[in-house]
Amino acid sequence: MMLRLVGVARRKAAPVMAGGTAGGERWMSAAAVANGGGRLEGKIALITGGASGLGKAAAREFIEEGAQAVILADINSKLGLETARDLGPKARFLHCDVTAEDTVAAAVDAAVARHGRLDVMLNSAGVVGPLSPGTSRLASLDLALFDAVMSVNVRGTLAGIKHATRVMAPAAGDGGGGGGSILCMASISGVLGGLGTYPYSVSKFAIAGIVKAAAAELSRSGVRVNCISPYAVPTPMVVGQFSALLGEGADEAQVAAVVRGLGELRGATCEAVDIARAAVYLASDDAKYVSGHNLVVDGGFTSYKHMNLPFPTKQPQE
Ligand SMILES: NC(=O)c1ccc[n+]([C@@H]2O[C@H](COP(=O)([O-])OP(=O)(O)OC[C@H]3O[C@@H](n4cnc5c(N)ncnc54)[C@H](O)[C@@H]3O)[C@@H](O)[C@H]2O)c1
Repeated sequence: MMLRLVGVARRKAAPVMAGGTAGGERWMSAAAVANGGGRLEGKIALITGGASGLGKAAAREFIEEGAQAVILADINSKLGLETARDLGPKARFLHCDVTAEDTVAAAVDAAVARHGRLDVMLNSAGVVGPLSPGTSRLASLDLALFDAVMSVNVRGTLAGIKHATRVMAPAAGDGGGGGGSILCMASISGVLGGLGTYPYSVSKFAIAGIVKAAAAELSRSGVRVNCISPYAVPTPMVVGQFSALLGEGADEAQVAAVVRGLGELRGATCEAVDIARAAVYLASDDAKYVSGHNLVVDGGFTSYKHMNLPFPTKQPQE
């Protein structure tokens, strides 16, 4: 999503930085508090990429919603251990590199060995890769850089789906109960072209495709598989990329404010908790008949275009 959004960011940077309200991510779900939690009561969840960003936000929300245990499987052990401590006793960290299939298999097996089953698998581990002519110009596309992103985002997600299926499908009851829910992080860069580099964009289109392909088989096993396509959220991944793009002088809070200012939906910004709530919905029995779906959380951004009319237009209420 970087290519087009950076253009928007540059246009919006000055006013947002001057009057922006950058701040920490809002982790607490008001809905979870109001309902007393419970939409994921007793569930066992495994989240790849759970040490940071959207994976961490989902872990927190899962626990708020009553999950019994949330396993954070991540390549970053230092951060993973910190995040597990931060989230409390229901969270546990396991080292996992999604490009190494045996570590994904081991994380799934560890969840089952400890808790007897796996109810929710969220494949959130992902990388954006560098922004360079080797990733953003077809004529100079660097296929090694392409492979590196695909290896984490696509192969890693597929490994997660594979091993979650291995334990979830046999556990599914005849009535479709207990079959589990597999979730993947796609992106708006996998909904529209031109929003990200080639490796990133292709990887996210692929994830939405894998989910549909997998749903064909998994529906028969009573296992649901879906993906979420978030808009830009100022996680470490996105803040890091926009910081590099916007250049020196912008601190983290300013960059986060720029990212929050990119949205189209008036009166709201896209926060990690919005993606986490989408994950809770898809993981929960509220979505018991939803499979093969791409839940786009973008405030309408990818749903429309405005015509570039060569004359001023009036709003309907004017
Ligand atoms: N933040 C956004 O705006 C946004 C938008 C659309 C999609 N996404 C997707 O959401 C997912 C999470 O991104 P984020 O923004 O939270 O980024 P993030 O960098 O904060 O978190 C990504 C996590 O994945 C882990 N990871 C990376 N490579 C790994 C590997 N090989 N094995 C295991 N773990 C690995 C990292 O250590 C990190 O903890 C990604 O798939 C990303 O593409 C993010």
